[in-house]
Formats: sequence, C-alpha cells, structure tokens
Amino acid sequence: MKVIGIETSCDETGVAIYDAEDGLVADLLYSQIDIHKRFGGVVPEMASRDHIRKTLPMISQALEIAGCTKDDIDAIAYTAGPGLVGALLVGASIAKSLAMAWQVPALGIHHMEAHLLAATMTPEPPQYPFVALLVSGGHTQLMECTAHSQYTLLGESVDDAAGEAFDKVAKMLGLGYPGGPEIARLAEQGDRKRFTFPRPMTNKPGLNFSFSGLKTYVLNTVNDIEAVSEQDIADIACAFQDAVVDTIRIKCGRALKQTGLNQLVIAGGVSANKQLREILNRENGFHLYYPAQSLCTDNGAMIAYAGYLRFIKGQADTLDINVRPRWPMNELEAM
Ligand code: KG4
Ligand code: ZN
Repeated sequence: MKVIGIETSCDETGVAIYDAEDGLVADLLYSQIDIHKRFGGVVPEMASRDHIRKTLPMISQALEIAGCTKDDIDAIAYTAGPGLVGALLVGASIAKSLAMAWQVPALGIHHMEAHLLAATMTPEPPQYPFVALLVSGGHTQLMECTAHSQYTLLGESVDDAAGEAFDKVAKMLGLGYPGGPEIARLAEQGDRKRFTFPRPMTNKPGLNFSFSGLKTYVLNTVNDIEAVSEQDIADIACAFQDAVVDTIRIKCGRALKQTGLNQLVIAGGVSANKQLREILNRENGFHLYYPAQSLCTDNGAMIAYAGYLRFIKGQADTLDINVRPRWPMNELEAM
C-alpha cells in the first residue's frame, strides 16, 4: 500500500511516498527560501505561485524515484491546514483533482499532527500516552496525546510562536531568514555569561508561553550598544537561545508533572535546535523523542505518513476543495 503526501502550507513544496512495507520510498523537498529571503519573511502570493510551478513535476519525479506509477498509489494525502490559505489551496486543488482522475481518496491532513507523527517514524517510537511540544514558525503548543488523533491542549503561546521569535530576533540582528538556524549557528560563538535574558511566564503557574516581551528585551539590548559588533550579535544570539530553551525546559517539566506522564515528544521546526535537544536530554525522569533532523522542518514525508495512518483507519474525504488556515488540533476528527 502506498500513500503520496503533498505539503504546500508555507514556503516549502514537499512530495513523498510512504509504503506500508518499505517506509519512505520517495521524499522530495523544494525550499522557496531564495524567493523569500530578500523580504525577510514569506510573501504568501509568491509562495502560492511557486507551489503551482513545483508540485506536479515533483509528483511525477517522486513516482519515478519510487519506481511506481499512479496505479500503485492507494491514497493522496495533502496538508489541509493550518497554513497560508493560497498555498494550502494549491495542494488541496492538485490532490483533489488527482484523486478524481486516479480514482483514489484524497485525505486532508493537519500540518501540526503530521509534525507530531514525524517523531514516531522511528523503529522505537514513543507509546501513547505522552506529552508533545509542538514548536514551529506558527505554533508553540503543549499537548497531552492519549492516542492517535486524541489530543488535549495543555498550553500554548499567547503571542509569538517560538520559531517566529527566532525569525524576528534574527531580523533585528541583521541575520538571514529563516532565523532559527542562523541564531543557533551564531550562538555557538557567543559568550554565555555576558547577558541573561528573562524566561517569560515561568514565575507564574500555568503552561502558556509568551515570547513577545523577550523579543523587545533583545531590541532594547541591541539599542543600548553603541556600535554593534559581530561578537555582540553572537552574545545576544546565545542569550536569546538560552532563554527560549530554558523557558521550554521549565514548561515541559511542568506539563510532565501535571499529567504524570514520562515521555516527551518534541516536533516542528524548532525541535531541530541542537541546544534544545541537548538541554532536554540532560533532564531526568522522562524519555525524550524527536524526529530525524530532516523531518523537523516542513516536508512531504510527514504528510504521507500521517495520511497513511488515517487511511488505514478509514478516513475518506469528499472531493470538494476546502482548507482550514486556522485549525485547532483538538478539533481534529478522531480516528
Ligand atoms: O515547522 P516549520 O518548518 O514550519 C512551520 O510549520 O512553521 O518551522 C519553521 C521554524 C522557523 O521559524 C525556523 O526559524 C525554525 O523553525 N527553526 C529553528 C531551527 N531550524 C528551524 N529554530 C531554532 N533552531 C533551529 N535549528
Ligand atoms: Zn511546519
């Protein structure tokens, strides 16, 4: 059984094929970073147009790499949300049109569920129930996951997502887009002892996050320096990353304590962060799981896999084209 996955929610076109026996048999990714980087962020209209150019040729290529034809595909999974509406509509339109032509079902997949499930694509996956921290450019959420498709929101960011804060701080420091990897790279040369930034909302009880004040703190620090040097930027990047990672560590510890669970899954773009993985790995009392590095940021593989899991449990959508730019994960159809 083979499921093809199409990801077009933001600035990456991803197409992959998941085979029930052989796992990933094709996994293609095209990043639009070169298109958007001179604007310091994603331009939605340009993203949609580029997905139109890339998706169909990538599907043909994926079939070729997997050594199969359209007749071997049992279902088509596509990202139905959350994400940029125009970009989502490209993937949805292509998926539904192909579904009609190939006479197979098309399944709308929740992007964040796919991020989460990417962490379970390993020989020794976590067993439900577990706590998940979903940290991407658009989301920072702590979820209690009792079973596949059964998620309870424990806490989330009340303003910027962690990845968004990385991107905005990178912009302030004159670094490139996306900011996460740039900050992580520079932080390695930073002097950890020079600045200590606040750990927002850790003094109060609760599992919500807020990264907007931390961003302002960085801006004020930059403004207080007369002529900002390379070393200043590295020191600030280091202090900022430490503050985000430490805040996440504290909140994850609280979520595990509150739920009484002993497994933590981290997923989404920010879960690629080495410092975050290292700090959480050093903590005691729980097992940590995260996706392979290539499966942390957006990709088609996670959509194909999430689609496969829903397909075998009987999800079948109608052929009308609808996407959900905003889509709380706890509103997902239970399987
Ligand atoms: O999951 P993702 O690819 O897209 C969304 O669903 O949003 O996440 C992208 C985010 C960006 O904000 C990017 O700066 C951040 O993930 N990111 C990182 C790292 N790699 C990507 N943040 C911190 N450290 C990294 N190594
Ligand atoms: Zn994502």
